[in-house]
Amino acid sequence: MKGQSRRRVLQAGAFAAVSGAAAGMTGGRATAAASATRPTSIPSARKSGGALPFLEGAFTPATKELTAFDLDVTGKIPRDLDGRYLRTGPNALGLEDPRAHHWMLGDGMVHGVRLRAGRAEWYRNRWVRSSQVAEKLRETYPGSAPADDFACNTHIIGYKGRILALQEGGPLPYELDGNLSTLRPYDFRSTLKSSFTAHTKYDPAADELHAVTYYPTWDHVRHLVMDHTGRLARTHRIPVADAPMMHDFALTGKYVVIVDVPLTFDEQAAQAGALVPYEWNHHHPMRLGVMPRTGGTVRWFAIDPVYFSHTLNAYDDGNRIVVEYTSMPAPFYAAGLGSGGPTATGAPTLDRWTIDLTRSHVTATRLDDLPQEFPRINEHLTTRRHRYGYTASAAEMWRAYETVDGQIPDTKFTNCLVKHDMLRSTRQVRRFPAGAGASEPVFVPRRGARDEDDGYVLSYVNDPDRGATDLVILAAQDFTGHALARVHLPGRVPLGFHGSWVHDA
Ligand SMILES: [Fe+2]
Repeated sequence: MKGQSRRRVLQAGAFAAVSGAAAGMTGGRATAAASATRPTSIPSARKSGGALPFLEGAFTPATKELTAFDLDVTGKIPRDLDGRYLRTGPNALGLEDPRAHHWMLGDGMVHGVRLRAGRAEWYRNRWVRSSQVAEKLRETYPGSAPADDFACNTHIIGYKGRILALQEGGPLPYELDGNLSTLRPYDFRSTLKSSFTAHTKYDPAADELHAVTYYPTWDHVRHLVMDHTGRLARTHRIPVADAPMMHDFALTGKYVVIVDVPLTFDEQAAQAGALVPYEWNHHHPMRLGVMPRTGGTVRWFAIDPVYFSHTLNAYDDGNRIVVEYTSMPAPFYAAGLGSGGPTATGAPTLDRWTIDLTRSHVTATRLDDLPQEFPRINEHLTTRRHRYGYTASAAEMWRAYETVDGQIPDTKFTNCLVKHDMLRSTRQVRRFPAGAGASEPVFVPRRGARDEDDGYVLSYVNDPDRGATDLVILAAQDFTGHALARVHLPGRVPLGFHGSWVHDA
């Protein structure tokens, strides 16, 4: 692949959250070019008359950056919540041609609420200042921009006292300050030279940050390990054919689990100007790769194809590895079918792979077949056995993803947050009204907590009556009871991707 097309593919780098899709720069021929490469058996065309659901309704991009202080609160904010709740997503700025846009290429916008001493001190929403965003806002970009520059739109994490906006497939992270202003691209203390990911795994016991990264021109993917100094300490190159997209992976105490999904880079589509030049590849086998965290031989396990989207958690169980995750049925169309976003052929579910290393066998188990996504745990247990998991479901999201028949899979279960008890195989469902658009639930342990679920679940939930969004704070042990607090934001937070609670330093 030549340099110019490679840059076109990667400059926007965007590949995102719920489903993940790689990105390229905009181009008017994109939709037609991508469509031309698809097999003829796929469902054709949206049924909603050419609307662009990923730019409308709950997805409508914010048009202004707001700052509000001393927010109104219903209920009482726990005083031990001292930090920032941050969540990001694509928020297209200055779109010239909405029909030549893909949701996942939207410029990243972070929405944050500062909590301290039982008060909601402020709310801010800020675009990540890539060079392109700075130019659109008529601001000066400090210094020279990285070669693969993009306003990271997929995840935002706290790492060693820094706030990092993340993207996969090319761009470096961007570092933000405590007021959500962009500081600079971040390269892990001058150690990361290229592609990172949006879905890292931080192992608190080892004080290591792990990532699996990909790039369209690589004949491998890379497992990266940042050590306790915050520097890239190890890189393991894992040969993989066809340049697949790898939105997420799994990590246990012993192993890295690579999920090789048959959604692969399509050079022909890229050269034709496709926005998201990744296609479902029926010739690419779906596999799980298991490698020791310290590197070495990768054992591959063939499995039935699904669109793997997100890991809930993974852990070792004797000579077995357990991976819990969300997925959608195969095939999955990252480039979409004309809706301006990805197209799924079924709703996302919560599932489990059990990898038996002795018998060389993988068992796939459906844990919950109701539509849900954005799985999170108490992250103190990342890489170790967990009992509880939290997910979200927003009707607007699944409507936009549009299943094959165009119907929302289950109207009784589309606006809610869910708490799963893996030990008892039960769930609690906290429902919200139509239009609520609940975002990813982030678990925050209570100060001094001993029990895994002793803490809070935070989520942005739209209030249709108010026409604006609340930060909802639930007691995780009283998941369906009264919310502890609803912090009333001054505007609406569009449906987006991932976020974190970042404790005050
Ligand atoms: Fe994601």
